[in-house]
Amino acid sequence: MTSDTSTRGTWQSGIGFILAAAGGAIGLGNIWGFPYMAAESGGGAFVALYVLCVAVVGFPVLLAELTIGRASQKSPVGAFKRLAPGTRWPALGAMGVTIGFGIMSFYCVIAGWTVGYLVKAIRGDFRNGLSAEQSQEMFTAFQSNPAWVITVTAVFFLATILVVRGGISSGIERVSKILMPVLFVLLVIIAIRSLTLPGATEGIRFLFKADFTKLTPSVVMNALAQALFSLSLGMGAVITYGSYLSKRENLVNAGAAVVGFDTLIALLSGLMIFPALFAAGVEPAGDTGLVFVVLPTIFDTLPMGNLFGIAFYFLLTIAALTSSISLLEVIASYFIDERSWSREKACWSMGALCFVLSIPSAMAGALEGVLGFNFMNLMVQIFFVYLLAVGALFICLFVGWKWGTTAAAAELTEGGGSRSVAVLWAILIRYFCPVVAAIVLGVRLYQLFA
Ligand code: PHE
Repeated sequence: MTSDTSTRGTWQSGIGFILAAAGGAIGLGNIWGFPYMAAESGGGAFVALYVLCVAVVGFPVLLAELTIGRASQKSPVGAFKRLAPGTRWPALGAMGVTIGFGIMSFYCVIAGWTVGYLVKAIRGDFRNGLSAEQSQEMFTAFQSNPAWVITVTAVFFLATILVVRGGISSGIERVSKILMPVLFVLLVIIAIRSLTLPGATEGIRFLFKADFTKLTPSVVMNALAQALFSLSLGMGAVITYGSYLSKRENLVNAGAAVVGFDTLIALLSGLMIFPALFAAGVEPAGDTGLVFVVLPTIFDTLPMGNLFGIAFYFLLTIAALTSSISLLEVIASYFIDERSWSREKACWSMGALCFVLSIPSAMAGALEGVLGFNFMNLMVQIFFVYLLAVGALFICLFVGWKWGTTAAAAELTEGGGSRSVAVLWAILIRYFCPVVAAIVLGVRLYQLFA
């Protein structure tokens, strides 16, 4: 089996990697998830905590995944085989691939909703003074129509497969280099639009004024879960993208750029959504419907609101696409690296399998009456709340205690990363991050069974 980098493909440039990796990280988690979690957890205090989690847990774990990927030049299963031959650690890579299937199965459905809402915005469905109840009804009707949701989900899958089959530099990197700047420009334009509305300052205050009396253990745990999800950590996406990096790249700088972009976009999404909400006199509601139920009611109240709506759902679709390609890449690269499948075969067959797996989530609205619970929410709980933290915990244990921070730090600094950063990083990855992840998981499990 050939395993050298020339046959696997590599990023053409450092900036190409940063845009692709930032594209993988920036997604529904930032624009759909972050604002609703901030609203649910009282605004500023959550935001402050989130930034802290990103800095002291997210960034170190991201660097850990990058070093594993670049040192092994392999996707997750092969990476652990190479760095810890003859052990059970490759099971951690297999868990990552499995989590990839799981996240893909609900992620692409929410992305499908976004495509559906883009179509609605283009059709002008939000124009006629939509009330909150009407908007909720519209969303419920949309979600409960399996044919429609499955169709838009399928369209989204097709787009994902078409990019990933193009490979690393001519598929993922090329598309990211075009879409990420578009996303950024759109986001800035919409945020400016929102920030210049009368009454917008309330929204800024909500986002940045920290009321720490609102902090509860679950707000802390949500902030950590959101940081892991938003940076795509704990399942090997960053290992995979890191495996296509050249030894010349400075991993610390590249990692910092990805983390910085991801956080910037989350904050900008808050600055896009909350001022518009407050300007329209709507209380921020902390539920998953925020961008699908609340926003459509305010587009109409804004000058050029319809255009604002179209731009918003287009932006959300782009963000979701650059993330779903990173999820499919994790799965496909396993079959390419470990089973010697062609990229074409891996992308089409695994993309199709993920699509089939997404059907129960796509039908969650319609099935809720029969099952008595929402299937998609269950998937989100399992993968978002629990498994990414389990993955991140074991990645810290692997780097800190099995592979060892000496070898890992040597890889981290190979392209010129600073030695003192590496020393601090080694301490965080060996002691601090695994302890935080273990405590959060322990409390979660205790709450589940108590
Ligand atoms: N980080 C992506 C987002 O914020 C989601 C994601 C998680 C993608 C895990 C890949 C792996 O939307």
